[in-house]
Amino acid sequence: MQTIELHTQSRPSTVLCGAGALDAAGEYLAGKDAFVVTDSNVYRLYKERIAEVFPAARVCVVPAGERHKNKNTLFRILDEMLDARLRRNSFVAALGGGVIGDMAGLAAALYMRGTRLIQIPTTLLAQVDSSVGGKTAVDYRGVKNVLGAFYQPERVFCDPLFFRTLPPREIRCGLGEVIKTAVLDPATGDLLEAGKDRLRDLGFLHELACSCIRFKAKVVEADERETTGLRKCLNLGHTTGHALELLCGRRSHGEYVLIGMWLESFIAEEEGVCTPAYAAHVRSLVALAEPRIPAFPNAEEGLRFALLDKKNTESGQVSLVLPKARGEYAELSLPAERYRGYLCRLQGGNA
Ligand code: NAD
Ligand code: GLY
Repeated sequence: MQTIELHTQSRPSTVLCGAGALDAAGEYLAGKDAFVVTDSNVYRLYKERIAEVFPAARVCVVPAGERHKNKNTLFRILDEMLDARLRRNSFVAALGGGVIGDMAGLAAALYMRGTRLIQIPTTLLAQVDSSVGGKTAVDYRGVKNVLGAFYQPERVFCDPLFFRTLPPREIRCGLGEVIKTAVLDPATGDLLEAGKDRLRDLGFLHELACSCIRFKAKVVEADERETTGLRKCLNLGHTTGHALELLCGRRSHGEYVLIGMWLESFIAEEEGVCTPAYAAHVRSLVALAEPRIPAFPNAEEGLRFALLDKKNTESGQVSLVLPKARGEYAELSLPAERYRGYLCRLQGGNA
């Protein structure tokens, strides 16, 4: 089992990664007042394990999927917490993918101004990224993650056992955030390139997840609340990714991040942020998970959503985090019309 410490200012956080992490979570909550939040898919697959590991916990099961990451589900979780008479020293355990982690994390932050929180991420994406670092949120009025809080979990338990039931599509989504990290972090980049033929090997995915978590831990320690700007690097590919996610919504977050990185590599190249060779290298990494970029005909609507991005600081400008060179990134604000021109490139996908 690997232990990764985040010395964050608000509250230190410890990530435990390895086989047996789920049992370790059970031991951590033994004898405590615990409330497990999960989704309908995870509950169907792990109902018996949840009962075995958390025998005394109340379990709140909400519908699965991004379209339920909203205020209605958030308030349903809060209602059940209140009905269960949770106290401030009770534990909320978010057991699921990034949607559950973000929503249960926000519920924990809001309830009595903060209950104790642990994360038990069950998707590759959630282990690699969303369960670590304390960002919690729901989507509201068509804006992604617009209602949220920074709220560090005191422990994160990453158990590779959950990968066994992940459909290939969810592995691909997780690879979206892995590839983002590989662009930002040379250690993860080297690991990914050395093992690019082993992306179906669950043990290798676990190694990649640990590498991504180590990188994210350093970034979050240095800039917990995204005030100095360093943490913004984790949004590489996300401006376009989030805009397409809100515009289309048929695919998953990680898939849109891959498409966002693909398009933004062209922006980086044409705006002189990186060399054509480096942009092509980024696209070759994207192709490991997403070789076919689909067509998005509606650039106007894409721009409308990109203009709502939380990173934008000036009206009429779209803020992007772009690949610059190995392990380096650059921030760039583009006038809306110029960005719309790049979005038009997606009209034919890469077919
Ligand atoms: P998700 O939570 O919707 O999970 C994807 C699907 O996999 C769901 O249908 C779920 O029921 C199912 N599932 C979960 N675990 C499973 C398992 N072990 N076996 C089989 N099926 C399983 O989505 P996600 O991709 O995990 O997370 C995406 C969300 O994370 C987005 O809302 C995104 O905004 C958020 N996110 C947050 C951060 C952050 O820093 N807080 C970072 C990245 C992404
Ligand atoms: N996933 C982006 C962040 O944690 O900052």
